[in-house]
This record gives sequence, C-alpha cells and structure tokens, in this order.
Amino acid sequence: MEQQLKTLKEAALKAINAAQSEESLGEAETKYLGRKGELSGLMRGLGALAPEDRKKMGELVNSIKSELEAAFVSQNTKLKAGASNLIAEAEWMDVTAPGVAHELGHSHIITKATREIEAIFSRIGFVREKGFEADWDHYAFEALNMPHDHPARNETETFFVGPREGEIATDKKYGKMVLTPHTSNSQVRLLERGEFPIRAVCIGKAFRRESNISHIPMFHQFEGFCVDKNMNLANLKGVIDYFIKSFFGTDRKTRLRPHHFRFTEPSFEVDISCVICGGTGLKNGVKCGVCKRGWLELGGAGMTHPNVLKAGGVDPEKYSAFAFGFGVERCYMMKEGLSVPDLRMLYKNDFRFLKQL
Ligand code: DAH
Repeated sequence: MEQQLKTLKEAALKAINAAQSEESLGEAETKYLGRKGELSGLMRGLGALAPEDRKKMGELVNSIKSELEAAFVSQNTKLKAGASNLIAEAEWMDVTAPGVAHELGHSHIITKATREIEAIFSRIGFVREKGFEADWDHYAFEALNMPHDHPARNETETFFVGPREGEIATDKKYGKMVLTPHTSNSQVRLLERGEFPIRAVCIGKAFRRESNISHIPMFHQFEGFCVDKNMNLANLKGVIDYFIKSFFGTDRKTRLRPHHFRFTEPSFEVDISCVICGGTGLKNGVKCGVCKRGWLELGGAGMTHPNVLKAGGVDPEKYSAFAFGFGVERCYMMKEGLSVPDLRMLYKNDFRFLKQL
C-alpha cells in the first residue's frame, strides 16, 4: 500500500503541476483528491489493515493529502495570477495620455440665420410667428388678391396635398390644400386674430415645384408684416434698412425697385449692394462675377393691398400695412459672400460640406 500511495502521490503532483488551465487543474483535483478520487479509494482499503499498519498508513495518507492540497492551492494561485496578468496586459492603458476630444457639432446654418433674423426683428418689437407649412389656397393665394388663373395656383408650380396619395384635401370655403409656396400666407391669418397693431415676422418653410442648382423645393422665407394706423413707405424703407444694416453690415446699401405683386400696392423688389464689388458692378475693372450690376435681389416688399386687409376683416380706411418677404438661404449666402455651387447641398447633410459653414 505504501508503494501505491507513493506512486499516486507522484502522479498527482505531476498532474497538478502540469495543469495549465483552471479546468485541467480541476480535473486533476477530482481525479486524485475528489470524494470518489484515487486517494479516497486507497483510504477505503485502510480498514482491512492490521491496527498498527492502519495507523501508520493513515498518517501517510493524511500527509500526502495535505501535500497534494497545498500543491493544488499553489498551482491554482499561479494560474489565477497568470490569467489576471493576461487581462492586465490586454486592458492596459496609459491613464496619463490626453483624452480623445468629442467633436462638438453646431446648428445648421439656416437655424443660425433664422435665430439671428428673429433677434434682429425682436429689437424693434416684431414678434416671431411660426407660419403654417400646409395651408388652404385661400390663405396662400385667394385672400392675397391673386387671380384664379395665376400660374402659382397651378399644379406645375405648387404642391397640392391631401390625406392620401393622389388626393387633394378640399374645403368648400377655403379651397384646396397646398404646401405653402411663400410665408405670405401668414398675413391674413394674423389679420384674422383681430389684435392691432401687428408687428410680426413669420419665419418658416416654403415649397415650390422647382429643383435645380439655384432652387430647392423646400426653402425658407421670412415675412415681415406691420399693420397700424398711418403706415407709409418711409416706415417700410426704414424697417428694411434697419434689417439690412443689422444683418449684413452698416456699409451695405438698400434700393427699392418698382415691381408688381398682387398683394401689395405699390410693390417693390428689394436690392442690396453687392459685397464683392461694393455696389459698383466692377471688380478690378471687369464685370463683377457675383452680381453683374452692383446690386443683388433680396426679395419683395410693398404697401399691403386694401383687398388683403379686407380679406382679413380689416377696414383699409382705418388701418394700413406694409409687408416684405425674403429668402433665408439667399440672405445667408449674401451675408457670408458665399457662392454655393448648388443650393441643394444645404440639405444633403454631407458633413464635409456642412462643417465648413
Ligand atoms: N411672397 C412673395 C414671394 O414669395 C414675396 C413677397 C413680395 C412678400 C412682396 C411680401 C411682399 O410680403 O409684400 O415671392
């Protein structure tokens, strides 16, 4: 038996020390030290021995058991340390290294321009209004004194919308529903509130059936609308001048050029002196490539037509009004002296482009 125990001890020590994973160490433990293991098997034979042999062998068995257990613990410790070394190696990092800075985004340029326009007008008491993006023909055209055969009231220029594809929502009184082609639809809605005076700037989306390098089907406009007693052209010019000097800089000049709109009388197109050639139309002796004439067209304006006031339930003898409507994208680009080769780039969400602005 003594010999058997020695052989067992050697085999067990070898197996324990050779174990390279917790798994194989566990197997060795079960094999030699487990309840049904080899050592227990030999211990069961102790009972058959003569009493003095039994005592001697018992002591030997116990000492072997302790020795094996100690070997097991030490091998186990070694393996664990090895494993955590591996983890430490894999997860090592230099805590003193500078961090990776998160990139900070910025608002879209049209959001920035919108906020700036809103702030400029708020300083002269104009309240920001959000317009209706989908509205009835009545507010978009009819109440603005536009004749039935006006080209804008045609499907080739304006988006008509309805609850389902191919359908156009229609109301007996207000006509068909459109994606508003301009922010001027806000005018009669504001008049209908019946609260005067009105000093409003409506900044919002406008939609037209056009898509090319200088037109996008969805763009932004802002509509100034001022209704009070005795409003006149000088008030209109003053407000536009104020806006242009605040937004573009004090050196920029404004010009009102007679034009025709159905909802204003008289009507004007508003031009601003070109930032590139300083309003001369010439750059280094040749025609300015941006404006060609020294002036850039910003948008429309005028004294509100009496029919529009009437459509909003307002007596044109009592109140007068002026209005103007400019494109936000256009203003932004003129301010920065930007020439974006294709306006559609503004809405493609290509970071390489947006990051530059
Ligand atoms: N609604 C016009 C457009 O989109 C612009 C405009 C012209 C607005 C004259 C006005 C105005 O308020 O008085 O082309």
